[in-house]
Amino acid sequence: MREPKEPSLPPAGARGLTVSLIAAVAQNGCIGKGNDLPWHIPEDLQRFKSLTSGQTVFMGRKTYDSIVARLGKPLPGRRHWVLTRQPDWHPAAAHAAQVQRLSSLAEAIDQAHREGLQSLWVIGGADIYAQALCYADALELTEVGVDVDGDAFFPDWGTQRFSASFSLQEEGPWANSAQGLRYRFLRFARKQSSPVAAVVLAAGQGSRMGSRPKSLIKVQGQPLILRLLATLRVSGIDQISVVLGYYADEIAAVLAGAGVTILRNPQPERGQASSQKIGLASLTTEAKAVMVVLADQPYLEKEDLQQLLSAFEKRPPDIQFVFPRVCGIPGNPVIMTADLARFFAQQDPPLEGRQWRAENPQACLGFESNSRHFIEDLDTPEDLAMLQASRRNTVIRGPQ
Ligand SMILES: NC(=O)c1ccc[n+]([C@@H]2O[C@H](COP(=O)([O-])OP(=O)(O)OC[C@H]3O[C@@H](n4cnc5c(N)ncnc54)[C@H](OP(=O)(O)O)[C@@H]3O)[C@@H](O)[C@H]2O)c1
Repeated sequence: MREPKEPSLPPAGARGLTVSLIAAVAQNGCIGKGNDLPWHIPEDLQRFKSLTSGQTVFMGRKTYDSIVARLGKPLPGRRHWVLTRQPDWHPAAAHAAQVQRLSSLAEAIDQAHREGLQSLWVIGGADIYAQALCYADALELTEVGVDVDGDAFFPDWGTQRFSASFSLQEEGPWANSAQGLRYRFLRFARKQSSPVAAVVLAAGQGSRMGSRPKSLIKVQGQPLILRLLATLRVSGIDQISVVLGYYADEIAAVLAGAGVTILRNPQPERGQASSQKIGLASLTTEAKAVMVVLADQPYLEKEDLQQLLSAFEKRPPDIQFVFPRVCGIPGNPVIMTADLARFFAQQDPPLEGRQWRAENPQACLGFESNSRHFIEDLDTPEDLAMLQASRRNTVIRGPQ
């Protein structure tokens, strides 16, 4: 057997690191069976080779084992990073120059950045794809036109969460492989997150509502909090943090799989400003502005949020805080610049938005709206009864 040549390092990246997951996926999401591929599609292997040759491929130990079992050696012409929890694991001596053991995904990403790599190829298997999906900039997939009864699956395949995170960039035509299976090549890219992030405050005790979680009250069969998240998403806001306090476990259970960052306020009794501070402190650096949203506004709609976003977009240069005003009454949600959000996140004791607004009127813009959704909230059983009896067709029920 000819020794594979040691691959040379990819050149230092000028435009930053791209993390790509590359996989062949059956229509039902299956990628493997019995620690092997469930098919042999030479065209897929050829594409895999042409995309990854000369570069660094990152994989779980089981996938590495399956490659070596199949080829008798690592993939020629590629540097391998193998993730394992076994401290004494090492590749066969003949492969040591080409294979490096890593003990965490974070270590791999960090090393790729330090070396200035332009590309890191995550090549599986299921366990590693599941952990790496949140780091992926791109997905190079071969869709195989069958359902397979296997034991390894691609994460989030066919789910709403997948389509919320990735958009299809290229869709090749279906073709028949030499061995008869249908396949096509798909390229997905991560959707750019909106420069406006949202912090949803859902930490309250609901004491005036008879001490129950208002976020879980159902509107048209859907918990209020999920309806609100959907409204934020259709308004183009993808980066969402939800701050929980009272009833945190109950609400977190409903939020599982909703693709939001869940934060907990350990002292919700300190009031809304303390939850807002926790939410604003969690923001990433890409956010240019933050919408602060109360979880108990049952009728907010896409059009309302668009009015708010548009008022913020068109604000004069010195304005840092924008809020709706209906018949002179200030409403919610509000939007603040990222700089102001950072200021709020540093205040101790936590600073009330209302107080800052009163002290800095020159930096605030209240825009007039005729949408009452901005000032309607669900505070008391009377509010709930009034909404149930309102002329709207919306059906509101208590948590079930
Ligand atoms: N269709 C495709 O494109 C494709 C591509 C690749 C693989 N596959 C298939 O996928 C299957 C293998 O997937 P799999 O999920 O069983 O295994 P895997 O993801 O290849 O490897 C899992 C192993 O990685 C290590 N590991 C995982 N998370 C870790 C962490 N956070 N820190 C340190 N080490 C960690 C552990 O190794 P230790 O046990 O050594 O600690 C773990 O057992 C096979 O059937 C293979 O053929 C399909």
